[in-house]
Amino acid sequence: MNLVYRKISKEEASKVRELINTVIGGLENPEFFIPYEEWEYEKMFDESYAPLYGAYDGDKLVAMGQLYVQQDMLQEYIKLLGLEGKKVCELGGALCLKEYRKQGIMTHIMGILEGYAKDNHFDYIVTMAHPDNIASNQLIHKLGIEYVKTEVVSSGFLRKIYSKKI
Ligand SMILES: CC(C)(COP(=O)(O)OP(=O)(O)OC[C@H]1O[C@@H](n2cnc3c(N)ncnc32)[C@H](O)[C@@H]1OP(=O)(O)O)[C@@H](O)C(=O)NCCC(=O)NCCS
Repeated sequence: MNLVYRKISKEEASKVRELINTVIGGLENPEFFIPYEEWEYEKMFDESYAPLYGAYDGDKLVAMGQLYVQQDMLQEYIKLLGLEGKKVCELGGALCLKEYRKQGIMTHIMGILEGYAKDNHFDYIVTMAHPDNIASNQLIHKLGIEYVKTEVVSSGFLRKIYSKKI
């Protein structure tokens, strides 16, 4: 398949909403993805908050991923992981349409975001997944991000938490 990977532009906000609604609507367990709040949609294209990349099959947005970079929004994880004083970013927003899964698409998007983290001199990448979310935990394993601990995070969701020194 000939996919194109690139930054998602503000003009494509409706495609992002559609992808989010389709994937969240089809989750095998609603606990697997912490739903977006309205303010997060407003910040979706703010690169100082979270660069956003997608995979396209022609004009169709088939997958997306985000790298949360704003330090004050990451304090909970920085404290949980004892990373005070470090520059930390978080991989998230990993959503791929069902019919495009298990083809390495999310590995590719997360690779782009990891490159962004390296280029911008972050010290650590963190990420998390529900313990039963096999696809997500496998993806994280593939990215070489190491398991640290399991916690209920402040949003009330149980998560395996992972980190990797860059
Ligand atoms: C998690 C998700 C984004 C993965 O996307 P993807 O494009 O299918 O991932 P990749 O193809 O890059 O797979 C990465 C690795 O995980 C493995 N994997 C993916 N899905 C898997 C599954 N259901 N069962 C077992 N392994 C799986 C792949 O085989 C690959 O490992 P390999 O190269 O060693 O074989 C996708 O399943 C999804 O959108 N799920 C619903 C939303 C969600 O749960 N998001 C994560 C929230 S934390």
